[in-house]
Amino acid sequence: MEKNDTLLYVQLAEQLINHIKDGVHPVGDRLPSVRALAKSEQVSIATVSAAYAILEEQGWAEARPKSGYFVKRAAVEPLSMPKKSRAKTSPRAVTVAELAMAVQRGAAASDGVVLSAAIPDLEFPIADIVKRTFTKLSRYPSSFGNGYDIPEGLLTLRQQIARRAVDAGLHISPDAIITTGGAQNAIAQALKALTQTGDIVAVESPCYFGLLQMIEGFGLKAIEIPTDPATGISVDALTLAMQRWPIKAILTIPAFSNPLGCIIPMEKKRLLIQLAQRYDVPIIEDDIYGDLQFEGRRSKALKSIDPDGRVLWCSSVSKTMDPHLRVGWIAPGRYYDEVLQQKFVSEISSPTLPQLVTAEVMKKGLYDRHLRHARATYHQRYIRLLELAREHFPESMRVSSAKGGLVAWFEMPRSVDATELYYMCREQDIHLAPGELFSVSGLYQNCFRLSFSNNWTPKREQAIAFIGSLLKKMV
Ligand SMILES: Cc1ncc(COP(=O)(O)O)c(C=O)c1O
Repeated sequence: MEKNDTLLYVQLAEQLINHIKDGVHPVGDRLPSVRALAKSEQVSIATVSAAYAILEEQGWAEARPKSGYFVKRAAVEPLSMPKKSRAKTSPRAVTVAELAMAVQRGAAASDGVVLSAAIPDLEFPIADIVKRTFTKLSRYPSSFGNGYDIPEGLLTLRQQIARRAVDAGLHISPDAIITTGGAQNAIAQALKALTQTGDIVAVESPCYFGLLQMIEGFGLKAIEIPTDPATGISVDALTLAMQRWPIKAILTIPAFSNPLGCIIPMEKKRLLIQLAQRYDVPIIEDDIYGDLQFEGRRSKALKSIDPDGRVLWCSSVSKTMDPHLRVGWIAPGRYYDEVLQQKFVSEISSPTLPQLVTAEVMKKGLYDRHLRHARATYHQRYIRLLELAREHFPESMRVSSAKGGLVAWFEMPRSVDATELYYMCREQDIHLAPGELFSVSGLYQNCFRLSFSNNWTPKREQAIAFIGSLLKKMV
């Protein structure tokens, strides 16, 4: 996103953050009051409040009741952020399938160091709880019903999902939810319900390659929208794209984008909804990482401010409980009937036992307890990744400032070919996700994504040192 089309409050937030980084406002310092800043910057009170909300969300400042905003030490001393994406906003056919499949296969088959896959740590106790619950419930096949489950999915699971959705600011009935085979399947049902071959879907850039592949597989076209590494998809760029192209759906990961790890601030979420209303397009919200916020209260989902049911909220337990379950869901709003029909014709119903297991683990409160532990642990592991990168990677690197999720995005100087790096690492059974996968127009050749979800064993730390040694030869 170019400076001149960056939103005012984002610019103001950036300015304040730069002052904090430069030591103009040391830790503990009281920041200018909302009123004073509005006056000095000649902007509205709402603009300043929105800027301070970004500072709070990113851990730079904290609000103290009746005293104002104070500088808080950033949870992680941020390194340089990757440059804002320069995505070309014209629709293209996707051509990432082969490399994506190779990366996926390599990770699944490897006993080496897998940094390419956004998988949760399966050493966490929740993985054992899932296994034990499976064993327990499989002894009572009578609880599975008559064979096939109903197309909308197991009621007990939908009840648990609806109960937990309150955390994301959603007050939805279990009847508004349809269970699916993971989030990928939920998004697939949404795309099938909303689009036809040749249609254009707006995506963030960089964008998780599984979504780009799906778009390709369905004969759709992706239009890459420039995305700010701190605040997510550019609403200005999206507006321009909407004016120019007949976009049929917007697909976004507002909470902890894969790969950037950023979160769209609430004010910007509102603008996104307003834009979708203006052009009457649906938004597919991929909220798979929403529960994995490192610090503070879970941010509200885009769907929580959706006044007319145009947001299709999709998620799963793949990142938070266990991807083996393949349990996900969708709350499709006004597109409920179309999505249910799509699910019915493509799979009749979802497997019952994994749904029962998921519901049982949630019902017992074990899931929430696990999440508290997982969030803090992943945060520590992300910090450790930054330390290792600082130690081993070239100084000219840039890295995203993740606020949650399981992955971080690295940008290197132009001389680095990350696909080449991927192949060189693979020879040593070290796996990373090359940046090329995250674009349909050949962007991000000098970028790569690393996951930080697993414990930093000496072997994993050495892998980072090895990647660093290759990078230093390339810059
Ligand atoms: C952003 C995003 N969406 C969807 C998926 C797929 O989710 P699931 O495994 O639940 O199908 C992933 C998996 O990596 C992801 O990162």
